[in-house]
Amino acid sequence: MPELSIAPARNLSGAVRPPGDKSISHRCALLAALAEGPSTLENYSTGADCQSSLACVEALGVEVTRAPGPEGGKADAKITISGVGLRGLRAPSAPLDAGNSGSTLRLFSGVLAAQAFASEIGGDASLSRRPMRRILEPLGRMGARIAAAAGEQGKDCPPLRFSPAPGPLQAIEYVLPVASAQVKSAILFAALYAQGTTVVAEPLATRDHSELLLRHMGAPLQVRRRPRLQVELAGPVERLAPLASFRIPGDPSSAAFFLCAAACFPDSDLLVDEVSLNPTRSALLDVLARLGAKPQVVSVEERAGELVGSLHLDGPKDGLGGTVIEGEEAVALIDEVPILAVLATQTRGGIEFRDVAELRVKESDRIAAIAQNLRALGAECAERPDGLLVPGNQKLRGARIATHGDHRIAMAFAIAALRAEGESVVDEPECAGISYPGFFADLERLAER
Ligand code: S3P
Repeated sequence: MPELSIAPARNLSGAVRPPGDKSISHRCALLAALAEGPSTLENYSTGADCQSSLACVEALGVEVTRAPGPEGGKADAKITISGVGLRGLRAPSAPLDAGNSGSTLRLFSGVLAAQAFASEIGGDASLSRRPMRRILEPLGRMGARIAAAAGEQGKDCPPLRFSPAPGPLQAIEYVLPVASAQVKSAILFAALYAQGTTVVAEPLATRDHSELLLRHMGAPLQVRRRPRLQVELAGPVERLAPLASFRIPGDPSSAAFFLCAAACFPDSDLLVDEVSLNPTRSALLDVLARLGAKPQVVSVEERAGELVGSLHLDGPKDGLGGTVIEGEEAVALIDEVPILAVLATQTRGGIEFRDVAELRVKESDRIAAIAQNLRALGAECAERPDGLLVPGNQKLRGARIATHGDHRIAMAFAIAALRAEGESVVDEPECAGISYPGFFADLERLAER
């Protein structure tokens, strides 16, 4: 797709159903492959990242069949994964390709580390710059043999090469030095094969989809909250039960773009259908409420331990205040910072983001990319090594948006363009397809001009 022009909007209204959750989809693909028998998944993410996970599963000898949905629509497709059991994967004939997906690379690493065959996993230029020491260290302690490439600044980067460990992996007790659900999950997936009870302690809580799914599939997993938050998994595990039929909740981090857009327009009226309301993913709702936009939960149900429901947001008649996001809330909102930084310009008090250094090692250096694009739009912001301060009451003017090939930067600044004076141009709009292929179509449908 060539660059895309986006005109300002005067309001936003209608209903939207975001694609299936990216984090849950990755985990479903991998765990269903390791289950004993077929799993059927509906609403699997159509984003390119989750297609990378499916391709990796297939490259490991697992059959995946895709049935079109009722209208032939991709979003409603049913995917059947014929699980081969924890010890049934086959050696891939070529290096596994995780594309742009850090989750694919890190989650699969936990499983590849425990296999009796050698393998390699890598990805695109952005993924090849991302730090992997965070998984190499704990998996190495478990006895895994993994070689990384030397990246920029001496970091351990993809591709990762796995050699069979000389003996079975051993359980470890590990306190996560960075709050990362990907690292936690890689350790838990390796722990399925390890001798003894692996304990992963989390100083700051991260998303818990791996725990919920593993428990649902019958793994002996326990979560303790006192005296500290920790997950325990007793290995080795013999079998995982398949997911009989699981409809994946919509992605709240995709819904976030439209929820924040609606919060910018006093007369907006937005319904978000079938989105994950998992408490480790719904911090945005608290922040919006704190700012003065009050999303209402219209319905809620539980599926395989995951909460899912619909939300309604009416534009805030009295505008938005300001807030600080830090600590555990910053961890919970890490993927939402780009759109919240855009929203901050439309508040009275601005938003200060602290403790978000992790943004520097995402698909792009998101702190730098946010600051660059806010300035291009004529807005002020202060960039810090581990944070950002975005003042409120700022007028935006149409500009050229540099996405850096980063899906969340592209989508966040497409929303900024709706609030700008004059047209904006997004440089690589197709990167939105990493997590939300229908994003621009939904944007055009909801924006009133
Ligand atoms: C994810 C965890 C987060 C998040 C990413 C998806 C996951 O990354 O930013 O988009 O699915 O576990 P980290 O675990 O690196 O914080």
